[in-house]
Amino acid sequence: MILQCNVDLRACTTLALPGRAAHYTKITNAAQLADADLAEGPRFILGGGSNLVLSGNVDRLVLHMAIPGKRLAKEDAEAFYIEAGAGENWHDFVQWTLIHGWPGLENLSLIPGTVGAAPIQNIGAYGLEVSERLHTVTAWDFERQAFVKLSRDNCRFAYRDSLFKQEGWHLSGRMAITSVLFRLPKAWQPNLRYADVAQELAARKVTEPSAQDIAAAIIAIRQRKLPDPAVIPNAGSFFHNPVVDAARADILAKTHPTLPRYPQADGRVKLAAGWLIEQAGWKGKALGPVGMYEKQALVLINRGGATGLDVRNTMQAVQAAVRDKFAVELTPEPIFL
Ligand code: FAD
Ligand code: EPU
Repeated sequence: MILQCNVDLRACTTLALPGRAAHYTKITNAAQLADADLAEGPRFILGGGSNLVLSGNVDRLVLHMAIPGKRLAKEDAEAFYIEAGAGENWHDFVQWTLIHGWPGLENLSLIPGTVGAAPIQNIGAYGLEVSERLHTVTAWDFERQAFVKLSRDNCRFAYRDSLFKQEGWHLSGRMAITSVLFRLPKAWQPNLRYADVAQELAARKVTEPSAQDIAAAIIAIRQRKLPDPAVIPNAGSFFHNPVVDAARADILAKTHPTLPRYPQADGRVKLAAGWLIEQAGWKGKALGPVGMYEKQALVLINRGGATGLDVRNTMQAVQAAVRDKFAVELTPEPIFL
């Protein structure tokens, strides 16, 4: 294992903000995590850097997770069990499962980042959350100096949330996820819960969609709406969609009749942060080098040369505008380092 000093992290993150790691190493094999050199001192676990805001230099040891590998681990009458290393690219992994005839993850096509980061915020899109297909997470626990296995129930998944975030391990670097086992039921049904997906398939005149058709439709929707980080640096949705009490949503809808509302299983109502930001006048608007994307107001973009401070300034201005107009608090989705 090679430990490097003063490593530039800009190209390791999709927002392309400046920042250097005091110490850095690439982890290509789970066994490397047991090395005594990694046990002490502050550390940060880095995946694809697609949900990260660099505030500046990082005075820690950055472990860049690059563990490869994907395989059919087992199969029973009901399901395929597929295992992937933490460093595998998420989208490539999803397409690989589809090519092999193991559907179930297609709604999560084209989400950037790595397999190992997927459980951290329980990635979700187009009517599916990864927790619905996840079986077991394997991680190296730096405190216990041992590998641990967490079942889906142990992971306490919720909307953009998990045990890893609830315990603060995503900031402290206590747990490095090394691999994830997925359970893909053989009784596959197309998941067309999200209206945009059904509309896109109808426009393509697909009446009985395969998993590949759904992946293609979702890839097309995403390419239309979201900026490619290689061209316009961004971290996807910059805020969570706020979840409020039903009574609060009713009051807002009285004064704003077009307010999108998504009732949740617990009786509360999810609002669309993108809509709130657009109504607050921030769609396509910028403060210095950081703005909100003109095609999707929930996506904060680096228009060139931005720093972590510029991101914070725009974030706070957007939060204030939404607070003033709707009395709703927006919480950032990416991790601030
Ligand atoms: P990083 O950004 O590197 O890290 C994120 C967090 O995970 C950090 O706290 C880090 O410490 C931790 N972490 C990373 N790897 C590990 C590991 N192996 N072990 C332990 N901790 C780890 N998200 C969605 O949910 N749905 C979307 O539709 C979506 N669309 C996006 C679109 C765009 C254009 C972009 C840029 C982002 C989007 N995101 C979306 C956010 C992002 O893709 C996900 O959060 C993704 O899972 C981050 O993966 P990463 O490997 O880049 O993680
Ligand atoms: N909207 C606007 N103006 C905008 C953007 C959105 O009015 O500028 C409205 C839309 O018209 C729609 C509603 O807001 O009525 C929801 O918009 P959209 O379907 O684009 O989804 P989103 O809520 O903005 C969420 C996730 C995305 C995920 C998509 C698809 C969060 C924080 N974001 O976005 O996840 O890909 O749904 O499922 O939950 C991410 O987490 O990084 C991410 C991209």
